[in-house]
Amino acid sequence: MAKPVILTGLRANNDLHIGNYLGGLLPIIDMATQKADDYQINLFVPDLHSFTTPIDHGTLQTGILQNLRVFVAAGLPLDHPDVHIYRQSYVPAHSELTWILDCFTGMGEMGRMTQFKDKSGKLSEDRISVGLFNYPVLMAADILLYGASYVPVGEDQSQHLEFTRDIAERLNSRFGDLFVVPKAVKEQHAFFGKDQGLRIKDLADPTKKMSKSDETGKGVIFMTDSPEAVRKKIMSATTDSLAKVAYDKDKQPGVTNLLDLLALFGKQDLAAVKKEYEGQEQYGPLKTAVADAIVEYLTKFQTALSKVSDEAILNKLKTSEEQMNQQANATLLKVQRAIGLRE
Ligand code: ADP
Ligand code: TRP
Repeated sequence: MAKPVILTGLRANNDLHIGNYLGGLLPIIDMATQKADDYQINLFVPDLHSFTTPIDHGTLQTGILQNLRVFVAAGLPLDHPDVHIYRQSYVPAHSELTWILDCFTGMGEMGRMTQFKDKSGKLSEDRISVGLFNYPVLMAADILLYGASYVPVGEDQSQHLEFTRDIAERLNSRFGDLFVVPKAVKEQHAFFGKDQGLRIKDLADPTKKMSKSDETGKGVIFMTDSPEAVRKKIMSATTDSLAKVAYDKDKQPGVTNLLDLLALFGKQDLAAVKKEYEGQEQYGPLKTAVADAIVEYLTKFQTALSKVSDEAILNKLKTSEEQMNQQANATLLKVQRAIGLRE
């Protein structure tokens, strides 16, 4: 029997930040390094997703290659036969299945997507593309073509994952068993050993999630930031005036974010971090510890990044993209037959 598939995609729009790294990338890297014998691992660059909002098209190619390098520097074992890297647009079945799924998707369903509301709210009417609107359908196609069961993503993508389950079930009940339905979000968290989705907050405004699309970049730590830049951003992170460290997402979102970051980058249990810092009356020592942990982590990561071989990436892309076309086309054909497009 085919192995269960773990799949995720990271867009190549800007440098990846620590939120992308911890929320989207690290869970799949852990699986690829520890469990690639039991699962198929698909880590891809959703390049067709890159211009749902306006971008500089001249830098897209560099961005795509840079993302692939980050995957490798983070520890993705390219030499494993069940680990695959690919660019979405090199597997045309993604676009074809999207069109088909589009025709079974309701306008209302898409209009309810929080990310659409957030992102379209920042654009003038004539710049809101239809692509931004139906982007969750493309994401569903990305997942369903390979029969992925587990899809590590940050909390902001949970709604899209739920939609993927809905559309898969809708077509399965109408046309017979076409798709593997990805596991429910809760089960996904359990699988990746978390109790909830991860949402790293912006350092300057901890009520918002850290995001690539942030204009100033002041509250965002990029994976390629220098130690000085990291220290500066952490030391000036917005906290509060309560003058007591406590883990409280509502009342002290800034401090809570710092405690989370220390646990994640210091590879410590959150409980241990809380025990050490909660109750302290100054935020300085916590900030210094967070900065130290991130600087140490990023320095190692950046050294690995500088050693990544582009040749190894290009070779792997070639093999993976051939194999993924085969897998994706097999699913697409099944769907085409079911809906009457093929004999
Ligand atoms: P961004 O919102 O920064 O443009 P993407 O939408 O490309 O990032 O997200 C890539 C991956 O990173 C997704 O799995 C997403 O859920 C995750 N992610 C993005 N921001 C965060 C965050 N602040 N905390 C945790 N995960 C995040
Ligand atoms: N939509 C995701 C994001 O913006 C990226 C993505 C595209 C993705 N296709 C996917 C993630 C399939 C997981 C699975 O972050």
